[in-house]
Amino acid sequence: SKTYKIAVIPGDGIGKEVMPEGLRVLEAAARRFGIRFEFTHIAWASCDYYQQTGQMMPDDWKAQLQGQDAIFFGAVGWPATVPDHVSLWGSLLKFRREFDQYINLRPVRLFEGVPCPLANRKPGEIDYLVVRENTEGEYTNLGGVMYAGTDREIVIQESVYSRFGADRVLKYAFELAQGRPRRHLTVATKSNGIAISMPWWDGRADAVGAGYPSVTVDKQHIDILSARFVLQPGRFDVVVASNLFGDILSDLGPATTGTIGLAPSANLNPERNFPSLFEPVHGSAPDIYGKNIANPVAMIWSGALMLQFLGEQAAHDAILKAIEQTLASGPRTRDLGGEADTTEMGKAIAELI
Ligand code: NAD
Ligand code: IPM
Ligand code: MN
Repeated sequence: SKTYKIAVIPGDGIGKEVMPEGLRVLEAAARRFGIRFEFTHIAWASCDYYQQTGQMMPDDWKAQLQGQDAIFFGAVGWPATVPDHVSLWGSLLKFRREFDQYINLRPVRLFEGVPCPLANRKPGEIDYLVVRENTEGEYTNLGGVMYAGTDREIVIQESVYSRFGADRVLKYAFELAQGRPRRHLTVATKSNGIAISMPWWDGRADAVGAGYPSVTVDKQHIDILSARFVLQPGRFDVVVASNLFGDILSDLGPATTGTIGLAPSANLNPERNFPSLFEPVHGSAPDIYGKNIANPVAMIWSGALMLQFLGEQAAHDAILKAIEQTLASGPRTRDLGGEADTTEMGKAIAELI
């Protein structure tokens, strides 16, 4: 069998606490399915490394990662010591751009056994995929502050969308929707207020969608779309959004399923020209770091998405089943209303595999 080369980057804060559980479950899946991993443990892309060296990553970071099949990533950010825009533009956002990981796939699911903050929702009623554009849009460094320090100070920050960039994420979302039973795609927009880029984005959705007549399309302004995530989550199947809209929706969606501690993500370069990156949606959570109480499921589920992308569907399915069983009746962390610590929950999932 093939050996998968995986770069392991825990990063900061609870990234360092959930990563061992992610690895524990990957190793359990490897034993059961005869998969071989070669892990390269990387201490850079962290604020600790920044404090020692003055940069987030070594100059040859790209060369060091180039031969890897995937990157398994915890979380970066420690605002007490390094400004967030410095740590994130120096690591995660650089990976997404320079490895052209233009799809950020973020599943949202309500599991049995998890208390849902929405009244009367049952497992199965919240089950959709957020497809977030991951390399352009509102995330740019184009702009600046003028007349700084005066009462005429102004700041401009551009958003950039390309036809190439919009079409490829829309195509991915239409393909995904076409392959699902409901064949329904929601396009996040804001074509009333953001009157240049968003009508344009809608036009690209129409143009790309013309090739997918079996997919029903619903364009929704981001404001009411957010309300419907809460009030009518059953409307959603696949949701495609620009970078910032997708960022917001992918914390809101998981919050409606109980906790963001469950939410995984896959930063994909579908063409496989570069390694893809698998990480929890959540960050380094400085407020709970050091107590070993973080929920490891987002990390573990991200590992399952990595196996799926590598072609190991059976291993993915086994991990997801073990997560389901643990959430239904096993030990659970505090964000799920339980008492278990990070390690106990990771071990429970690994043992079921
Ligand atoms: P956060 O996701 O780190 O935390 C938000 C809240 O959710 C906190 O109360 C935290 O305790 C809780 N939480 C998060 N993950 C949890 C888990 N697994 N189990 C239980 N509770 C959990 O968001 P933030 O506070 O906005 O950001 C903190 C730092 O993380 C910042 O430096 C930020 O830039 C960074 N960040 C990094 C990533 C990433 O690496 N992908 C994502 C988001 C934020
Ligand atoms: C995420 C995070 C990042 C983002 C931050 C840390 C830059 O919130 O992965 O969702 O905004 O993309
Ligand atoms: Mn986010």
